[in-house]
Amino acid sequence: MKSYLLAERTIDKADLTDLKDWLETDPWLTQGPLVRQFEAAWAAWLGRKHALFVNSGSSANLLMYAALLAQKDLPNRKVIVPAVSWATTVAPAIQLGFEPIMCDADPQTFGLDLTELEALCQKHKPATVIAVHVLGTPNDMERLCDLRRRYGFVLLEDACAATGSRWDGAHVGTFGELSSFSFFYGHHLSTIEGGMVTTDDEATHDLLLQLRSHGWAKDLAPEKGDALARQAGAIPFNKPFTFYLPGFNVRGTDLQARIGLSQLKKADHVVARRAENHRRYQERLGGQAGFQIQHCPRSITSSISFCALASSPAHRERIGAAMAAQRIETRPIGGGNMSRQPFWAERYGAAVFPMADRIHQTGFQLPNHPGLSLTDVDFICDTVLAVTE
Ligand SMILES: Cc1ncc(COP(=O)(O)O)c(C=O)c1O
Repeated sequence: MKSYLLAERTIDKADLTDLKDWLETDPWLTQGPLVRQFEAAWAAWLGRKHALFVNSGSSANLLMYAALLAQKDLPNRKVIVPAVSWATTVAPAIQLGFEPIMCDADPQTFGLDLTELEALCQKHKPATVIAVHVLGTPNDMERLCDLRRRYGFVLLEDACAATGSRWDGAHVGTFGELSSFSFFYGHHLSTIEGGMVTTDDEATHDLLLQLRSHGWAKDLAPEKGDALARQAGAIPFNKPFTFYLPGFNVRGTDLQARIGLSQLKKADHVVARRAENHRRYQERLGGQAGFQIQHCPRSITSSISFCALASSPAHRERIGAAMAAQRIETRPIGGGNMSRQPFWAERYGAAVFPMADRIHQTGFQLPNHPGLSLTDVDFICDTVLAVTE
């Protein structure tokens, strides 16, 4: 009997053959020329000036927050975080001493509830907002960017599950001052583990280069490293081992970048197939009694999984059982309502987020990957729709 997995491996035989051939040339393996090549190729593909390859999407998020602190001009450390997100969308804010304030989910996009966000901006005047494009569905970027203009916050975009999704023609991950992507197994593209931070700002990129590697300046253009050394009065002999920022080591490697370059060749195909499946799910499940689906106007969604809400937890339970009987994999939506996760609840207490709670209690994911055909999607939809409320 056929199985329908939520995710399939994206690193295929051709990628592995390419890797094997390259390994036989006895190449440099840690961060080196291929990382720079992959970063340039990613920035060009996305439509961004700078990209920085790191060892995971979580590290990409960590560096986005750390770069804001390194800029030294944040008016405050308040950051609005989405209730429906991922643990490591929120965790770096806690680790780095930000003051996270949670915002409920929007009933359409499942991203930030932009009406609530505006009220939070009026009340708290946060310097930073982080948005997540939940499982690939964009936030309404016109409204979000309008709020940024009116309230003056820095926008971080967690696009870790949204590679290739577009809002009004532009890739998600090109709207925020900084954005993050993940290349974990089962994501749109994979480098085994890996992630990317992107920005259009050169000074921010210079900070990211230092934060990624111990806080030193070795990855900066030589004249910029010289200027920092002069400013800090570094002794020439010690200059390469002078640490200017409290950094991390979250570098990606040339080995991973080689896989990334090979994966990038099929990015457009992967994105198109995921978007096609997503549209089919929307056509089949949209407007069906007992179900609610995600929707963002003016967007193309290259989802990592399709997600839907059942009419009740009991309905979801029965859908899960019907899917298991047909070997169709499912799971809750992302990490659900983050305020219910122990790492948050123990620090900040439980709060009421009605939409995020509905998503937590009734949401479920459906498979989407390039190997899943429209016939497969139809079969999955038939299985789900056969379960009445
Ligand atoms: C929205 C979001 N942010 C961040 C991450 C973390 O990415 P990684 O697993 O590469 O650390 C994920 C992982 O799925 C995610 O879905």
